[in-house]
Amino acid sequence: MVILTINNKTVELDISEDMPLLWVLRDLMGLTGAKYGCGIGQCGACTVHVDGKPVKSCSLPVGEIGKSSVITIEGLGNDPVAQKLLGGWVEKQPTQCGYCQPGQIMTALALLHEHERPTKEEINRALSNHICRCGTYQRVRNAIKVAIGSTDDE
Ligand code: FES
Ligand code: FES
Repeated sequence: MVILTINNKTVELDISEDMPLLWVLRDLMGLTGAKYGCGIGQCGACTVHVDGKPVKSCSLPVGEIGKSSVITIEGLGNDPVAQKLLGGWVEKQPTQCGYCQPGQIMTALALLHEHERPTKEEINRALSNHICRCGTYQRVRNAIKVAIGSTDDE
């Protein structure tokens, strides 16, 4: 039995501790915001938060999570920082096919929780391991800049 806290709810699952978190989220919990991209921790599409840190859920066996809190994009609720960030997404509309965007949003949110006004370099570093096949990189960065009150589009 594996016990997890996902989006502030405790769930008990009769699964192997080796099962990657992404499988639990998508296949068992119906939380399909985190996406399966590469499956090897390279693309960032599966990113969720574990104790507030962005984590690639395709590569995290549930047995390693313990009592840590898992938050997915479905669990952002009324987090004011998330609301600002999503406001940036609405204003700048970076999304094309959308596949990579939940992961990018979760990484950006963790960054903004850590730094209220990250520098361009900090934003680039945080998002450097997200792959977007639609090439929305600059628009994603512009959306983050809106969220931090910068009008410095590129
Ligand atoms: S699916 Fe997890 S990093 Fe690509
Ligand atoms: S918006 Fe299509 S993969 Fe990023």
